[in-house]
Amino acid sequence: MTSGDIAAAATFYGSGERFATLDEIVDAARETLPADVWDFLAGGAGDESTLRANREAFGRWTFVPRVMSGADVPSTRTSFLGVDLSMPVLTAPFGADALFHPEGQRAVARANEAEGVASIVPEAGSHSLEEVRAAAPAAAMIAQLHPMGPEDNFRAMIARAAECGYHALCVTVDCPTGGWRERNLRNRFAPDPAIITGNYRAAGSPEPQAVFGQLFDRTEPVWSWDRLAGALADSPLPWLAKGILTGADAESAVAAGAAGILVSNHGGRQLDGAPAALDQLPEVVRAVAGRARVALDSGIRRGADVAKALALGADVVVIGRLAAHGLAAAGEAGVRRVHQLIRAELGTVLTLLGRGGVRELDESAVRRSPS
Ligand SMILES: Cc1cc2nc3c(=O)[nH]c(=O)nc-3n(C[C@H](O)[C@H](O)[C@H](O)COP(=O)(O)O)c2cc1C
Repeated sequence: MTSGDIAAAATFYGSGERFATLDEIVDAARETLPADVWDFLAGGAGDESTLRANREAFGRWTFVPRVMSGADVPSTRTSFLGVDLSMPVLTAPFGADALFHPEGQRAVARANEAEGVASIVPEAGSHSLEEVRAAAPAAAMIAQLHPMGPEDNFRAMIARAAECGYHALCVTVDCPTGGWRERNLRNRFAPDPAIITGNYRAAGSPEPQAVFGQLFDRTEPVWSWDRLAGALADSPLPWLAKGILTGADAESAVAAGAAGILVSNHGGRQLDGAPAALDQLPEVVRAVAGRARVALDSGIRRGADVAKALALGADVVVIGRLAAHGLAAAGEAGVRRVHQLIRAELGTVLTLLGRGGVRELDESAVRRSPS
């Protein structure tokens, strides 16, 4: 055992925590959930090539350490769209959240509040924006919306988010229809629609399912950037475009007024065959050229991945399945433990890289591996 091993042991094995690694949390989630719910959470679209590519992309980057420099306790603090964060991590909008734990995004929000992480709260959530906000009044929150269906509905959601103290909006632009998810088809997966209509129940709609269904009415044309820009023109909140994979689309989002770009392929759940999000990050960062903040999701599974994404130009990362695993494994405590383990690993990586904090991460910290 090296002195580093002993330090790690003192921090983690001695802590008496139920979960010492993120993998243990994934295992606990898999053991807890019914098989079809696990498939819904873990699965991707098509033959899941994009789901795999998201992970493989991280493996193609190696670190370039700098020894005899940095800080023993590097800073992970940062900010994003006006929100202070204890580390450059937000939780993704994952809908149908009550499938994983009855408290769903309310438990995620409480964990985030305690750990200084921001929530992106889904439109297709099991609880409403107001209910999630009430669960964690001091937490930083971003409301996720679909630019689909009737514009009145879209504007009403923006008004509700502003009214109950959300800090920003996240507009998911890569979901004009759900992906071709074969695990769900094979499982005949048909959960109770109530798990995705929390927002419409709360709005007092007599038929929350019907209102939600209008979003995905495929007889209606897909929204254009112009229409989206118009619908957001008088929004009191800044917005982030979620689901961007090319410089050209990033350019369109910035032209439409986006304050942030979330480079994402929806965790491999939408267009199978789409490139890994990490591989597209440098192109998007170049196109944005400092005019908007840049976030990345799809494939983040550990603290070292956060460091690689930041080195390649992301300001923050967003975690989907990791947060959902924590939720399924142990509710609020499980999500908190996910954050603690990411932060601890990220700190270790920063120290070993010889960087004093996340703000010192740039492309000099990584190199594409030769093979
Ligand atoms: C169970 C589940 C439900 C999701 N629901 C939504 C959603 O309602 N809206 C959305 O924009 N993205 C949704 N996503 C995608 C996530 O926001 C995020 O892009 C993705 O999970 C990131 O990849 P990762 O899981 O590898 O971290 C969902 C993801 C999962 C796993």
